[in-house]
Amino acid sequence: MENIHDFLDGFGIHIDNKPVTQVFVSAILLAGIVAIIQPIFGAFRVLLSLFVLRGEPLTQHAPRGTWALITGASDGIGKEFALALAAKGYNLLLVSRTSSKLESLSSEITTKYESKISVKTLAMDFAKNNDSDYAALKELVQGLDVGILVNNVGLSHSIPVPFVETPAEELRDIIMINCIATLKVTQLITPGMISRQRGLILTMASFGGAFPTPLLATYSGSKAFLQQWSTALGSELEQYNVKVQCIQSHLITTAMSKIRKPSLLVPNPKQFVSSVLGKIGQHGGALGIAHTSSPYWSHGLMHWFLMTFVGERSNFLVNTNRGMHEDIRKRALRKAARDAKKQ
Ligand SMILES: *[C@@H]1O[C@H](CO)[C@@H](O)[C@H](O)[C@H]1NC(C)=O
Repeated sequence: MENIHDFLDGFGIHIDNKPVTQVFVSAILLAGIVAIIQPIFGAFRVLLSLFVLRGEPLTQHAPRGTWALITGASDGIGKEFALALAAKGYNLLLVSRTSSKLESLSSEITTKYESKISVKTLAMDFAKNNDSDYAALKELVQGLDVGILVNNVGLSHSIPVPFVETPAEELRDIIMINCIATLKVTQLITPGMISRQRGLILTMASFGGAFPTPLLATYSGSKAFLQQWSTALGSELEQYNVKVQCIQSHLITTAMSKIRKPSLLVPNPKQFVSSVLGKIGQHGGALGIAHTSSPYWSHGLMHWFLMTFVGERSNFLVNTNRGMHEDIRKRALRKAARDAKKQ
């Protein structure tokens, strides 16, 4: 092919021979080719990451027998992390609000593994931001080799609500738990990991933060904070061989989502946690976002599709999301009215 003029002639497209035309047409052609190839190449990488490639073994970041600290450990995803990490041979530090739930989970695990797994628990309410609770947490982890930190504790709005109508206490609790508690706990655990030159920090973010979510505006902002913070932290800690991974997920059958029945798009906590622990170091659907993974297959496909073809902060996405959450709010208000009548 001598020049673009002759090349296009072959397709029956005739342009003149001026260099400026040829450069212009070449540039458009190249942009078109890249625009087509990029999503195809991206889809290929996402499919490989979600369905074929395996994650790094946990032991690469934390030897068996070291401790895993899990916040929000007594329910849903946190509880599942506790069970899964015990099964993999890690001792557990379980932190959550309700001591009775912690005790029953602790005895379930120690009975199952006949004391091969040690479990320590601390009941604290992160919403309270009480210094003496944090002092107790510091004492609890004192001298322990904490190899894994799972920043799981989280709070959302009780139902979707316009920002201006959101109760002040709900706003404060969401930021206190999702943001402040995560920062404080991570700052407590990270120096030990740095000095041991290894460790794994998993932080549960949410599509609610990846994609702006009207009527859950504060929750959405808090999870966006975690995403941004976690990626930045991941870059800081790389040099110490401490792995940070922000975990992006859509709905899971938990108390927070209020969905009970698992489906293609809504895994149960066990399915979800197994995808997280099986895909350490893989991006899944969070292609191109450093130190981040969207590891559950259907969530990963959705994450990638929305980012690639809809735009993570596009008008269309935000407005559609608002419509969805206005409907959820209407249903929740109707249900509350029905429940009130019953009493
Ligand atoms: C913090 O917790 C301690 C110990 O449980 C309690 O004595 C204290 O009153 C709490 N402080 C606040 C500000 O709630």
